[in-house]
Amino acid sequence: MTEASMILVETIGRVGVVRLNRPKALNALCAQLMQELGAALLAFDKDPAVAAIIVTGSEKAFAAGADIKEMKDKTFPDVVFNDFIGAHWETVLEVKKPVIAAVAGFALGGGCELAMMCDMILAADNAKFGQPEINLGIIPGAGGSQRLTRAIGKSKAMEMILTARMMDAAEAERANLVARVVPLADLMAEALKIGEKIASLSGPSVAIAKDAVNAAFETTLTEGVKTERRMFLGLFATADQKEGMNAFAEKRRPNFTHR
Ligand code: HXC
Repeated sequence: MTEASMILVETIGRVGVVRLNRPKALNALCAQLMQELGAALLAFDKDPAVAAIIVTGSEKAFAAGADIKEMKDKTFPDVVFNDFIGAHWETVLEVKKPVIAAVAGFALGGGCELAMMCDMILAADNAKFGQPEINLGIIPGAGGSQRLTRAIGKSKAMEMILTARMMDAAEAERANLVARVVPLADLMAEALKIGEKIASLSGPSVAIAKDAVNAAFETTLTEGVKTERRMFLGLFATADQKEGMNAFAEKRRPNFTHR
């Protein structure tokens, strides 16, 4: 039997919002939820009315990890051959529009990994991040050992992954895991402000800026700077570059056409 939808989807202005909605299980990320999330993200990515996307959870949990009850009896052949951490776990990486993780409460295990796969994390002051897989006799499996280490450095990542210690929002901000911490009550309003600011900009420059930053994680400095330079020069072929610079010179607001 398939449970009803495990996400809530809405568009606010030009921002698409996906809310993980499995409250009784603290938004544990089961296969159905991840498939629904992936489909919603791809639909927003294609939708011209949407310029940025927010992924969020409840006040208590962004997501408390992969669904332990769903995976506990899986055998080695099950997890190796049956697409266990398959394409549906990483759909967010395919999205070209900016994806903001608005995190309140627990972001643990796969929940922390999902947040780190988004383009930025905005944290509520009650957020708690952790990779507690070691308590279960496993390790992070959706990029946690790699993305957490790149975000906060080896020593802190080792401590969190080897001991399952959680990090609160203030520490996550000090450690550069999150862009900013805001009061819980302001989380969605602040995330929407980021989304609306992005929506007011030139779509091509936003998409290319996202690609440029992501290139920093995949290449050497010299190659990354060359990539950035090609992207920068390419934007001079857009109408929006002319509009943006003319608007500045003429002391008016730009009217971007996303071309
Ligand atoms: C399945 C989960 C769950 C999870 C919570 N629940 N986390 N179910 N998978 N990851 C369920 C509980 O079983 C419980 O259901 C209900 O949600 C409420 O949880 P409680 O434990 O009663 O709440 P609380 O006491 O407030 O504790 C919150 C918590 C704790 C500290 C977050 O739930 C917890 O430690 N959860 C597991 C966190 C974890 O280990 N995450 C990593 C998973 S492995 P019932 O039915 O009893 O009410 C992972 C690997 C990813 O993520 C690899 C990539 C695929």
